[in-house]
Amino acid sequence: MARNKDQSPPRFRGPIGHCSAEELRAALTWPPPGTGRLSTRLAGSLRELIRGGGLPSGTGLPPSRSVAAALRVSRGVVVTAYDQLITEGFLDARQGAGTWVGTAIETPPGPPPSAPAPVARPGLPDLGDFPRSRWLAAYRHALSSMGSADLGYGDPRGHSGLRTELAGHLRRTRSAVAEADGILIINGVAEGLALLADVLLDSGRATVAVEDPASPGARDLLARRGLEVVGIPVDEAGMDVARIKSPERLGAIFLTPAHQYPTGVVLSPERRRALIELARRHDLVLIEDDYDGSFRFDREPVGCLQGLASDVTVLLGSVSKTLAPALRLGWLIGPRALQERLVERRVITNLAGQTVDQLALAHLLRSGTYDKHVRQMRRTYHARRRELIVELANKAPNVVVCGDSSGLHLLAEVPSPAHERVVLSVLRADGFAVQGLAECRLGGVSGRTSGLVIGFASLKSAALTRLADLVGQVCSGTGPVADF
Ligand SMILES: Cc1ncc(COP(=O)(O)O)c(C=O)c1O
Repeated sequence: MARNKDQSPPRFRGPIGHCSAEELRAALTWPPPGTGRLSTRLAGSLRELIRGGGLPSGTGLPPSRSVAAALRVSRGVVVTAYDQLITEGFLDARQGAGTWVGTAIETPPGPPPSAPAPVARPGLPDLGDFPRSRWLAAYRHALSSMGSADLGYGDPRGHSGLRTELAGHLRRTRSAVAEADGILIINGVAEGLALLADVLLDSGRATVAVEDPASPGARDLLARRGLEVVGIPVDEAGMDVARIKSPERLGAIFLTPAHQYPTGVVLSPERRRALIELARRHDLVLIEDDYDGSFRFDREPVGCLQGLASDVTVLLGSVSKTLAPALRLGWLIGPRALQERLVERRVITNLAGQTVDQLALAHLLRSGTYDKHVRQMRRTYHARRRELIVELANKAPNVVVCGDSSGLHLLAEVPSPAHERVVLSVLRADGFAVQGLAECRLGGVSGRTSGLVIGFASLKSAALTRLADLVGQVCSGTGPVADF
């Protein structure tokens, strides 16, 4: 339709074209599905027809009397359905001009967006061992014991019942400096990183140093949130702090001290001291991702960095490795001034957390059930890690396993980038959750070493054997590896 001289949108004066009662009857889903009042169901069918583009904007509808005759219903049914859709804006009507499809209707949407491609996550716990009945019992306990007031929005930091239990738990198991009042309950480490990125951006300190290699998920989240990410190499003692060349440019350093992701090394005491000194001198925030710190197998878990320097460190953790990522329950403890800004930020995006789930976790912690589950899983994962190492040693002797005896994944060095690419596609085609070391490097490039990040937590004996067989077939063959 031509525009007026002043380019303002044309005013709609009445219906464009008409559809007859018979055409409408043919186009409608009739009789309409479901139960309930016929007028409501007729309104539903008409709404769907309009939304799907079957009746374009401006199309004139037949008078209610003729629609009623065509559908063999009383006129009142059609009048009520028309009125309902006029109230909602799907139809317009004017005295003397009839009823037509509203002008504010959006054009029919395209096909729904396809699901994002699944990401290989080698660090998943064995989800088949999720303690369903214990969680159910804890959930029931939470619901039956919480007061009505607890069903409101509550404290934006999370329920004090969970914060109190977590404070004790983190002091005891992670040597953290933790008080209930200083904990913020978050929807997993990912939410904590998003909040930190926002606060750093707000304060104009938009550059963060990250370990290289690192978890692509965590690193990309910081970058997508708007931070500039610079990589600092990792060696057998963790992040090489001496390679941080311009600390004055940084707002924060993000790292995984207890069990570096993906190499599995532990940050050495010297590097811990150097990092803390650097942070204090340049007013930097150390963001400590304590993602699997509870799973150290042959020795006591390494205490967290935050326990040494709570004035400059933000500790992040979650139950994603100990229970399940689907619970989306995590915690954050930062220096007081920063913590207050993080809580303010959280309130902008989310008024409160899921209190019933929080109270269920509090119950698991208080009753000792959580610790018992972690102990059980530690034994299981330790056994699987040992078995994988033996299988790899037998079937792929030129593959070198790196890192500390802990966590839910291990890094296995392979002879070359070509081996990495081939073995990755072979293992993925067989359904294994594996990552390539190149994917974990900033820029996705191959480095001095090549390797596979293998999640072993949910692999039983047969799967561990199969995996080692496949790695052995690719890596122990003689001659060059053909890429595909
Ligand atoms: C390095 C690292 N940090 C943290 C997490 C956990 O994130 P969340 O607590 O948001 O589930 C993961 C999960 O895969 C991870 O690999």
